[in-house]
Amino acid sequence: MEKKIHLEKILWDECDKIIKLKVNKNQKTFVAPNADSLIDAYFAIAEDKIQVFPLGIYYAKKAVGFIMIAFDCPWATKYFGLPEKFYYIWRFMIDKKYQGQGFGKEALRLAIEFVKTFPAGKSEGCWLSYEPENEGARSLYLKAGFVERLDLHKEDFEIPAVMML
Ligand SMILES: CC(C)(COP(=O)(O)OP(=O)(O)OC[C@H]1O[C@@H](n2cnc3c(N)ncnc32)[C@H](O)[C@@H]1OP(=O)(O)O)[C@@H](O)C(=O)NCCC(=O)NCCS
Repeated sequence: MEKKIHLEKILWDECDKIIKLKVNKNQKTFVAPNADSLIDAYFAIAEDKIQVFPLGIYYAKKAVGFIMIAFDCPWATKYFGLPEKFYYIWRFMIDKKYQGQGFGKEALRLAIEFVKTFPAGKSEGCWLSYEPENEGARSLYLKAGFVERLDLHKEDFEIPAVMML
């Protein structure tokens, strides 16, 4: 399985397949729909002038998920007091049909491997955040080596977690 999961830059032809991927009803508050994420990427690139990498998660040739990585987001410092120039795993989902089969774990491993190539510039860390009630994601991230930063957590915001690179 491990070799079959891979990340790919999303091209025009594949965009529809990524937009059609959905999470379970009870997970809808955990991640934005993929179409919204692609729009967010556009504005972050156009207005904030930051680099964003929206990537499809594929099992062999089948699109099974989506992960979006950004670099040096202004809101990392503004809302969480994190250092500048950190990578950010901004969006991450596995379609409801493909969850619970190890795909998320492998995709996250590949995303960290990609971040460690420093595609947008050298960095000392990578961060992400999750809703306090998202136990599945929290468990996955902590097992992958992210450290929860409750000291930076503000009420009504997601909980940030950091991995030093
Ligand atoms: C979080 C998510 C990406 C995990 O993907 P997945 O393919 O189902 O995860 P895997 O099968 O690779 O499981 C990896 C680990 O995740 C954790 N996990 C996944 N689902 C879980 C659940 N329902 N309850 C508890 N832990 C869970 C476990 O720690 C698991 O490790 P284990 O197999 O050693 O027990 C997927 O559940 C998802 O898309 N959720 C909805 C969107 C979301 O919450 N995204 C993250 C936003 S911060």
